This record gives sequence, C-alpha cells and structure tokens, in this order.
Amino acid sequence: MEERSIAIDGPSGAGKSTLARLTAKKYGLIYVDTGALYRSVGLFALQRGVSSKDEENVVKLLPDIRIELRYDGGGLQRMFLNGKDVTENIRVPEASIYASDVSSMVPVRDFLLAMQREMAVKYDVVMDGRDIGTVVLPDAGLKIFLTARPEVRAERRYAELKAKSISTTYDEVLRDILYRDKNDSERSAAPLKAAEDAILVDTSEMDLEQCLKAICALAEEKL
Ligand code: C5P
Repeated sequence: MEERSIAIDGPSGAGKSTLARLTAKKYGLIYVDTGALYRSVGLFALQRGVSSKDEENVVKLLPDIRIELRYDGGGLQRMFLNGKDVTENIRVPEASIYASDVSSMVPVRDFLLAMQREMAVKYDVVMDGRDIGTVVLPDAGLKIFLTARPEVRAERRYAELKAKSISTTYDEVLRDILYRDKNDSERSAAPLKAAEDAILVDTSEMDLEQCLKAICALAEEKL
C-alpha cells in the first residue's frame, strides 16, 4: 500500500494539512493528519496537569489514552480522545506547544507510530507530519518536503486561527512557530528533516492553487 501513498513533511504553517486534504480528495486517498495525534497526547497531559517537560509522568499517562480517527462523508478527519471529540480543542496555542514538547519523547513516538503504520497498511493515504518520509512511510511512492519562510507561515497560521475565533496575536503565532521549528528540528528522536528522496517545495511565493497544481503534477508523475 505504501507505494501508492504520499508523505508530506515540513515545519508548521507550510500548508501541509490543507494541501494534504485537497490532494487526498482529488485522488480518493485517506488523509491522515499525524500532528493531531501528538496534539491529542499533549492535550491529555495538559488536562491532567502534567507538565509537557515531565517525560516520566507524561509516559505514565499513555496507557490511559485512547485515540481514534473518524472520518465524515467528505473525508474530513475528526479526532477522538477517550471517546470525546477534541478536533477543535487540540488547535489552541497551548496544545501546540505541548504537542511539540511531548513529541520529543521516544515512548510517545513509539506509541503513535504503530497507529500511523496501521492506517497505511489498511489504506492508501496522504499523511502529513514531520517524520513521515523518514520514519513512518519510508517506502511512500511520493515524498514532499513542504516549507516556507517563518513569517509567511506565521501569517497563514494566524489567519487560520482567527477564522476559527481562537484568540491569539501574530507575534504569539510567530514565536510559537520559531519555538516549534527549533524543538522539532533539534530533537534526537525522529527530527524534522527532509528524506533523501523527498522533493522540496517552497510555498513562500505560491498561492494555494499553485501549490496544489505542483503537488498534483508530482503525484501524477510518481504514483
Ligand atoms: O502538524 P502540527 O503542527 O499539528 O503538529 C504539532 C506538533 O506535533 C509539531 O510541532 C511536532 O512537534 C509534532 N509532530 C511530530 N511528528 C509528526 C507530526 C507532528 O513530531 N509526524
């Protein structure tokens, strides 16, 4: 199945989730937003009052976490944490920081890796994240590393959060993006980096339509 799947990696705000969702829809693939899995673990730690830096106690929470992805008719992913729909709750800025912190913990990554691989065995997928091309789906038929300048990514993310009425400022979003870029690229467990055979797409000067066109051209060539 993996050869028919697409891996999209890159830093936050590069446009991965929107593009992955649209690509999945166009080719009848299942979209898996793996960041939502890390966000759910982060949210659970936050709800239980465990610091996102406290590895020992975050790891102790893992047996109590049941994560489930459900899809509506339009292929939109909804995230369930212990039976509760947390699709919107996991987007708040605090959950982003928690997700980035807990994602550097090896037991957390192992816990979620099995789930991601299981999805790719069952379905042809478009999966987005940080380590999809390098760790989760090393045999994906198409690997894309999507990036853009931090200021452009912050502007896009800020507009997205504003549209969802999540209260924040541009400066806070930029700070959060720079924090996560550093965390995600410098950690030793599955750091954010392009797979050797990934195709680099810089979306700083591209609009959504141009990005989608570029990805579709690659999908048609490779899959
Ligand atoms: O993609 P998103 O911004 O929702 O991801 C939230 C956080 O989860 C990222 O900052 C990153 O630390 C972590 N993550 C990861 N590996 C993935 C997906 C997300 O470490 N495959």
